[in-house]
Amino acid sequence: MILIIDDDLAVRASLSILLKQHGFKTREAASPKEALELAQQHALQLVIMDMNFSIETTGHDGLQLLAAFKQRLPQVPVILITGWGSISLAVEGMRLGAADFITKPWSNDYLLQAVRTALSLSQHPPGKDEALTRKKLDQQFDFRHIVGQDPQLLQILKRIGQIAPTDASVLIEGESGTGKELIAEAVHRNSLRKSQPFVKVNLGGIAASLFESEMFGHKRGAFTDAKADRVGRFELANKGTIFLDEIGELDMNSQVKLLRVLQDRTYEVLGDSRSRKLDIRVVCATNKNLEQLVEEGKFREDLFYRINLIKVRLPALRERPEDIPLLVQFFVENLKKTYHRPELEISPKALQWLKELPFPGNIRELKNLVERTVLVAEDEVLTPKDFQAQSQQGPVKASDKSLPAVGAMTLDELEASMIKKSMAYYHNNISKVARALGVSRAALYRRLEKFGIPYEPQD
Ligand SMILES: Nc1ncnc2c1ncn2[C@@H]1O[C@H](COP(=O)(O)OP(=O)(O)OP(=O)(O)O)[C@@H](O)[C@H]1O
Ligand SMILES: [Mg+2]
Repeated sequence: MILIIDDDLAVRASLSILLKQHGFKTREAASPKEALELAQQHALQLVIMDMNFSIETTGHDGLQLLAAFKQRLPQVPVILITGWGSISLAVEGMRLGAADFITKPWSNDYLLQAVRTALSLSQHPPGKDEALTRKKLDQQFDFRHIVGQDPQLLQILKRIGQIAPTDASVLIEGESGTGKELIAEAVHRNSLRKSQPFVKVNLGGIAASLFESEMFGHKRGAFTDAKADRVGRFELANKGTIFLDEIGELDMNSQVKLLRVLQDRTYEVLGDSRSRKLDIRVVCATNKNLEQLVEEGKFREDLFYRINLIKVRLPALRERPEDIPLLVQFFVENLKKTYHRPELEISPKALQWLKELPFPGNIRELKNLVERTVLVAEDEVLTPKDFQAQSQQGPVKASDKSLPAVGAMTLDELEASMIKKSMAYYHNNISKVARALGVSRAALYRRLEKFGIPYEPQD
């Protein structure tokens, strides 16, 4: 049962009719008091609540009521309805645990979509699952091209599988090369929209001045350079999924424009005032920390809540080193076919060696390293030496960015990997490694012993 709370009879009635037409049971409440009474008498699945209660209100009553619901029935999702002018109220509500917000005047399609999404998400809360295996997931879902069985990754895949059929927006965070795009594709492939288009847009690559024309399209003559009609990315993606990559790069002006489309699911083509409807699933990705950008005032908080109904953080490769051998095998299998070298294989030692490399560029870097190595290796069995020769990228200048995340490594681990990296780079030449690391040869030997790194004593 869905509880509709609004002091305006007309709003209650129209929402109620709409929801009933689509098979939902509803109840209506005109005041917070009535709402809380009904909540005690009935098992609620969802609450839809107008924030702009009574005339003298500032939305405060709405927030109070929301808080009361979240305290008493934390499991029941609450969708807020606000006016465009009071979006800050919606943001406040999201912080208090609202499931979603809708601005007035709403589009019925979008409202129904939001209701269905909130309901299905509340039926699959993220939870622990002891017996989660890759095999089980693969029986249920389609995660081809995604290699790995790290427990963190399995949790992510499970969640993706569960939420894929909803229309919930998904935000994928993760360092460069961790597989964000693959995950975005997996959301689409496991959704009901899978036979519709999947359109990728790199927002980092679109100049602010061209944002509207790129995204919404334009009519010939809409502006000086518009020599012909152009179909916008949203139109291309209509009925399917749009993947907004590098969303953290979007400037403030474009953020407002994007928010509007996502909110209303309508847009206008430049040079054509007719408003067009959109039916779209939004998946965003970023390697930035959006929450921090919000705090710094560089990313709109309302847009942030709009795009991150579901958030997925992909682990860095160093957080899942056990997957490295699997990934390498997978890449080698593919390369065997590409280069017609069926005998190609990789020595267990090489796999072990690769597991210990830091890989700041994550899976993409690993993939490139394997590919380079295969290209130059003459022997069909790849050894640590083959990889070492390709992994030397020259000394990298130390900067905050190239350091692993706080908590990811202890100082000892950091020291050990730096020594291993240098040994690989200088082909185990102790004098060169010692010089590069700024320690004496004796000090380097001590550390090699301490960390159990193999070496050949030289004089
Ligand atoms: N789990 C995985 N299994 C197999 N290949 C993977 C996996 N994750 C990533 N890759 C491969 O690694 C490369 C980088 O992945 P992807 O482009 O999805 O990363 P990204 O997070 O979008 O990176 P960026 O932030 O640089 O855009 C791709 O070639 C992709 O196919
Ligand atoms: Mg990417």
